[in-house]
Amino acid sequence: MSFILACTDDAIKAAATSLIRGKLVAFPTETVYGLGADATNKDAITRIYRVKSRPIDHPLIVHISSIDFLNKWARDIPEFALKLAQTFWPGPMTLILPRTDLAKDFITGNQDNVGIRVPSNTDALRLLKEFESRGGLGVAAPSANRFGAVSPTTAIAVEIELANFLSKEDQILDGGFCSVGVESTIINCTQEKASILRPGAITMEMVEEILGTSLNLNTSNSNVSRIKAAGMLEYHYAPNAKIFLEGTPTIGDGFIALDSVTSPMGVVRLAAPKTNKEYAQVLYQAFRLADTKGLERVFVIPPTGAGIAVAINDRLRKSASTK
Ligand code: TXA
Ligand code: MG
Repeated sequence: MSFILACTDDAIKAAATSLIRGKLVAFPTETVYGLGADATNKDAITRIYRVKSRPIDHPLIVHISSIDFLNKWARDIPEFALKLAQTFWPGPMTLILPRTDLAKDFITGNQDNVGIRVPSNTDALRLLKEFESRGGLGVAAPSANRFGAVSPTTAIAVEIELANFLSKEDQILDGGFCSVGVESTIINCTQEKASILRPGAITMEMVEEILGTSLNLNTSNSNVSRIKAAGMLEYHYAPNAKIFLEGTPTIGDGFIALDSVTSPMGVVRLAAPKTNKEYAQVLYQAFRLADTKGLERVFVIPPTGAGIAVAINDRLRKSASTK
C-alpha cells in the first residue's frame, strides 16, 4: 500500500488529526522530510524510535509553528538565542535550550535541554498550525530515514525508507522536493556563548553577523558526552555504496562534483550541481540514485569555501567514514 498523500487542505487536516490521535505523519520541511509525532505522547514517540530503529538516547527536535510556542518548551532563554530565533525562524535552524517540564525525557534523551525549530516550508507550517488548532503543542520530527541512513528529500524516498515499518493509519505528506536538502543548523544555546553543533543552511557567517561575535563550529566528538547532537556519530548519512572523497574512480563507479568538473572516463555521473546551494539540494538524491543503480563505489569532489559548503563537507565526511 502507498502512504503518500498530496498536501491538500483535507490531507493536512486529516494528518493533524492523526497526529493528535498518536499516529505518525511524515511531512516535508525545507531541509529534509521529517517523521512526525505528537511531542507530548510517549507511545507515539516510542513508535518513532522503533520505525527509525534509532537508539533511545538520541533526542528529537520539537517543531512548532511560531516563536510564540517557544516558552512552552524552553526556559531561561538567553538574549542571543531570542535574537537568532527572531532572525532565522521560520527557517532551517534548531536551537538547543534548557527544557521546561513539557519536554519529557522521552523527547530529550534524558538531557535537561530540548531542540526546537520553526520550519519555513509552507506545508510544514500548515500542518503545525492545524495540529496546534486541535490543542497540539509541538511535533517531534527526526529525519524520516532509518537510523544512520541518508535523510529523505522527497516523499517517495520516505516511502522507500519506511513503508515496511509504518502502520496502516500513518501517513506521508508529499510536498515535493526539499529546497535546502541538508538538515537544519543546530545551535547550542545552553552555554554562555552560542556554538554550532551541526552546520546547515544558516551558516556560521550568518550567525556571527547577527550576534556580532565569532563562534566555534563544534562538530567534533569532543563534546558528545555533554550534549548529544545528531550527526555527531562518525558514521551517518551514508548510502549503501561506499563514498570516497579522494582517489580516482574507475569505469562504472559513481561520480558527484560541481558541473564545472568534467566526468572522468566511464563513470556514472550522479549529480552535476551548478552552485553549492544546488549541491546541497541534490546530494542526498544523488546518494539514493547510487543505491538504486546498485553502485558499490561513489567518488565525490567536495565543494570548497565557506557558507553551505561547510554543511556539505560535514555530511560528506560522515558518509565517507568506514561502516
Ligand atoms: O532539518 C532538520 O533538523 C530535520 C527536519 C525534519 O527538521 N530533522 C532532523 O532531525 O534532522 P534528526 O533527529 O534526524 O537530527 C536532529 C539531531 C538529533 O540527532 C539530535 O541528536 C539533535 O538533533 N538534537 C535534538 N535534540 C537535542 C538536544 N536536546 N540536545 C542535543 N542535540 C539534540
Ligand atoms: Mg537524522
